[in-house]
Amino acid sequence: DVLDGRGGTVAPAFTELHAHLREPGQTEKEDLHSGLAAAAAGGYGTVVCMPNTRPVLDDPALIRSLIEKAGRLGLARLKPAAAITRGQKGEALAELQYLKDAGAVMFTDDGLTNENARVLRLALETAHALGMVISVHAEDATLRADGVMNEGPVSEELGLPGNPAAAEAARVARDIEIVAGLTAQGRPARLHVQHLSTARALDLVRDAKKRGLPVTCEVCPHHLDLTDEKLRTFDAMYKVAPPLRTQADAEYLLGGLLDGSVDCLATDHAPHTKAEKERDLLEAPSGIAYIELAFPLMWTRFGHRLGLDKLLDLMTAAPARVMGWPQPSLDAGAPADLVVLDLDTEREVNPAEFKSKAKFTPWQGQTLRGWPTLTVVDGRVAYQREG
Ligand code: NCD
Ligand code: ZN
Ligand code: ZN
Repeated sequence: DVLDGRGGTVAPAFTELHAHLREPGQTEKEDLHSGLAAAAAGGYGTVVCMPNTRPVLDDPALIRSLIEKAGRLGLARLKPAAAITRGQKGEALAELQYLKDAGAVMFTDDGLTNENARVLRLALETAHALGMVISVHAEDATLRADGVMNEGPVSEELGLPGNPAAAEAARVARDIEIVAGLTAQGRPARLHVQHLSTARALDLVRDAKKRGLPVTCEVCPHHLDLTDEKLRTFDAMYKVAPPLRTQADAEYLLGGLLDGSVDCLATDHAPHTKAEKERDLLEAPSGIAYIELAFPLMWTRFGHRLGLDKLLDLMTAAPARVMGWPQPSLDAGAPADLVVLDLDTEREVNPAEFKSKAKFTPWQGQTLRGWPTLTVVDGRVAYQREG
């Protein structure tokens, strides 16, 4: 559904299933206004925000107040994800229904905990009954341990504690088996694997799909474009969970996008302050924030491999399919929800221009094409490029 307009290409506004907007509690990193303005500047009309805030999004009143506040901003639309456990502390939440009623669109353990198998199974059972998706940060915490980068030749050479690919594969395998067990009992629960980063974990998801299990996964552009070689700089800007992997993993994930075994793209926009990211690699928090660059980065680097229709699908219709939402369209008569993209003009990445509070980026100074020039959400201009 790509229409070529005057000097621009129009598409439905993008949908982000994975962003950390840090409100409430960590608004020095980001807040609803800066985060949703950044999303609109990136061409996004809808953002699912993660619940690892302070306090954690585990309370219906908090979910409601975030949605109301975001609605008043007139930027990208906010759809919060709620925590699986109270305070993300491992105690199963009985009230998932109330969180759904308040407007939560998914449940996730992203950001803080690695939920134990019993808690995750309970959540999957409840989510199935509610028709909702459980998204998981798939890393086995004991295998991940204190790893600050991918475990492999580069981590060994640098003498840095590694986070093995097996941490991801082990957790994905465990979670798939829980879904398989529930499915065999007639309770197919929807599992979505967030920020999948390794070839092995993608093989496990592929196999689960072949078995007919309701398992989906997302891949992040940073895991396609950056590798563990970047850690040679010892710059914590490249510290992210799961870590940047090998070139072979990155190539394999791109293959998954091409053959459909990866369901959609998501950025895992995870802003931190510059001061935090300038700390020692061992101490600094994990996360890369670049929701404003997602489309230009993907189009410039991988447009020739994916093609425009496939790339747009991965950022519009595909996330809607994962969530079971209506397919976005540009049908005449519907409230405008669209992005206009300039596919050709090359511009240098200048993080000083970011709407996000995280005004630094691994892609600083690089030349990218495919910049959004206009984002319309619910018939209102949410972003218009100046100049
Ligand atoms: C995320 C954050 O900063 O909240 N960090 C990250 O490295 N991805 C948490 C997460 O997505 O697990
Ligand atoms: Zn995560
Ligand atoms: Zn995340």
